[in-house]
Amino acid sequence: MSIRSEIIGFGHYLPNKVLTNDDLSKMVETSDEWIRTRTGIISRHIAQDEITSDIAGRAAAMALKNASVNPQDVDLLILATVTTDNTTPSTAAKVARDLGMRAGAPAFDISAACSGFVYALTMADNMIRLGQVKTAVVIGAETLSKIVDWTDRNTCVLFGDGGGAVVLRAKEGKGDASDTGILSTCIFADGSMYDNLKTTGGVSSTQNAGVVFMNGKEVFKHAVGSLSQAAETAMSDAGINKEDIDWLVPHQANIRIIESVREKLDLPEDKVIISLDHHGNTSAASIPLALSENIESGRLKKGDLVVLTAMGAGFTWGGAAVRL
Ligand code: ACO
Repeated sequence: MSIRSEIIGFGHYLPNKVLTNDDLSKMVETSDEWIRTRTGIISRHIAQDEITSDIAGRAAAMALKNASVNPQDVDLLILATVTTDNTTPSTAAKVARDLGMRAGAPAFDISAACSGFVYALTMADNMIRLGQVKTAVVIGAETLSKIVDWTDRNTCVLFGDGGGAVVLRAKEGKGDASDTGILSTCIFADGSMYDNLKTTGGVSSTQNAGVVFMNGKEVFKHAVGSLSQAAETAMSDAGINKEDIDWLVPHQANIRIIESVREKLDLPEDKVIISLDHHGNTSAASIPLALSENIESGRLKKGDLVVLTAMGAGFTWGGAAVRL
C-alpha cells in the first residue's frame, strides 16, 4: 500500500472583461488573422478591479465547494504565480486568510512561471505522500495584464488573466498505475535560458516589476522539446504508455507549440485538451483552468488517465501523470 494524493475538487475563475483580437488590433499593429494562425488565441480575459488574490481565492473557493471541503480542514495552500499582490508577504497567505483557513496551516507562493502549477502540485503531492499534510489546495493564478507591455505586439497578444485550483486529499492506494490520484510528478530547470523569457525588472534590480520580454523563437524551440520530455518522463515514472492515456493537458501557450508536441508524442488530436482560444496564455493558471473547465463540461471524467505538461520562464518545465 502507498499514500496517493487524489484530486477531489476543481475550480477556476476568469475575470469578466474580454479582450478580443479585434480589440487588440486597435491598440497595436496586428490582426485577428495573424494572432489566430500564429497562436490559436481568439480572446483573453483582463482583470479590472480584481487582483491576483481575488482570482486565486475565487478559483480555490470553487474547488473547495466542488470537493465539499471546509477551508478550516485544509492543511496546506500553495499558490503558483508570478504576479503577486505584494512583494511580501506571499499572496498565498492572503488567499488563506480570505478563504477562512485555520491559523497554523502553511501557505506559500511558488515562482516557476508557466510551470508553476506543476511545481506546486509536485510539492503538495510530496508533502501528502510523506504524511505531513492530508488535505491541500493548489492554485495557479495570474494577472499577467499588469506586466504586459501593451505597446509590444510581440508579447501583448499572447497573455491573459485567470486562475485555476485543485483540492488534493491523501488516500491509500495499491502503489501501481491502477490507483486514482497523482501517479508521478517531475520538475526541471535550466537557468542558462534565464534571459530568453523574463520581465525587464524586479524588486532587487530595478525596484519595479518590469514588463514581459520574450525571445519568441528560442522559447518556441525549447518549449516543444521540454513539454514532450516532461510528458514522457511523467508517463515512464508512472509505468504507463502513451496508448494508456485518455488526455494530454499541456500548458496553454500556443496552438502551434501544442500541435508540435502532439506530433512528437504521436498522440491523436482528440486526446489533447485545448482551451487557450478563449483565455490565451495564463501562465501558472493555464493547466488547472483547462482541467476545471473540462471537468465542468464533462469532457474529463472520473477514472480518466491524464498527463500534464508545462514549460515556462527560467526555463522551467515539468509534468505529472494523474488518474482522475
Ligand atoms: N501581429 C502582427 N505581426 C506580428 C506580431 C503581431 N502580434 N508579432 C510579431 N509580428 C511580426 C514580427 O514583427 C515579424 O515581423 P518582421 O518579419 O517584419 O520582423 C513577423 O511577425 C514574424 O515574426 P516571427 O517571430 O517570425 O513570428 P513567428 O511565426 O515566430 O510567431 C510567436 C511569433 C507567436 C511569438 C512565436 O515565436 C511563438 O509562438 N513563440 C513562443 C512564444 C510563446 O508562446 N510564449 C508564451 C510564453 S512561454 C510559454 O508559455 C511556454
